[in-house]
Amino acid sequence: MRRFNHVIVRRPCRALTEGITSGLYPGKPDYELALVQHDSYIEALKKCGVEVTVLPADEAFPDSCFVEDPAVLTERCAIITNPGAASRNGEKESIREAVRQFYPEESIESIISPGTLEGGDVMMCGAHFFVGQSERTNAEGIRQFAEILKKYGYTCSEVKLEEVLHLKTGVNYLENNNLLVSGEFIEKPDFASFRKYVIPEEEAYAANCIWVNGTVIVPKGYPKVLEAVAAMGYPTLTVDTSEFRKLDGGLSCLSLRFYSNQKKA
Ligand code: GLY
Repeated sequence: MRRFNHVIVRRPCRALTEGITSGLYPGKPDYELALVQHDSYIEALKKCGVEVTVLPADEAFPDSCFVEDPAVLTERCAIITNPGAASRNGEKESIREAVRQFYPEESIESIISPGTLEGGDVMMCGAHFFVGQSERTNAEGIRQFAEILKKYGYTCSEVKLEEVLHLKTGVNYLENNNLLVSGEFIEKPDFASFRKYVIPEEEAYAANCIWVNGTVIVPKGYPKVLEAVAAMGYPTLTVDTSEFRKLDGGLSCLSLRFYSNQKKA
């Protein structure tokens, strides 16, 4: 895996308190605390050796700090998605502007209606991408996504979701063939070839860890997962994401992590 050199994040907006939630983790986010946690998240990313581009808060879109959903950024192309959640669909326009800083126009692709796709449903494992068919990502979105990936020499396979919001809510790749799996993904044949760590049910939220240049960032408050990741040999960092968790958001949702040597001045 090539190292990431860039990360894009967006500051949480005050309207965050009106973001979409399944109610699985009850309570309204505390905006001020969310800002503090976002600062810590940015600091942790910087420790992993990436340059962080911080986009301004966008009050028009309560969930817009979850920048992973409106784009998928690869080494060879950027794909602007078409978020399936109506209140989030417009996030794609401003993320396109941000992405233009790092990718030439001819390598910026788009998912278009009636296809829908959200980046939280996409898990990159080398040159292969797993894509969750979910309430946010439909079959047509996956068809378009696979076609785009093929053009750039990547492959793709579909995973049907039954319970969770996004694919990466329950399964995350830590490179070196190591996979964190929880719930409905534990037995799926799609992931049979990986070395799997099964997340204990009571720590299911921590299936959403992120690998950044060899370090794994783990959400704060999940000791079993933290211990397991450290035992796999990774240096670890923890970040408290309690306010984002109330909106079903996790560590991966809060950033776009990618390699680009094209940054415009
Ligand atoms: N609250 C994040 C999402 O539902 O997309």
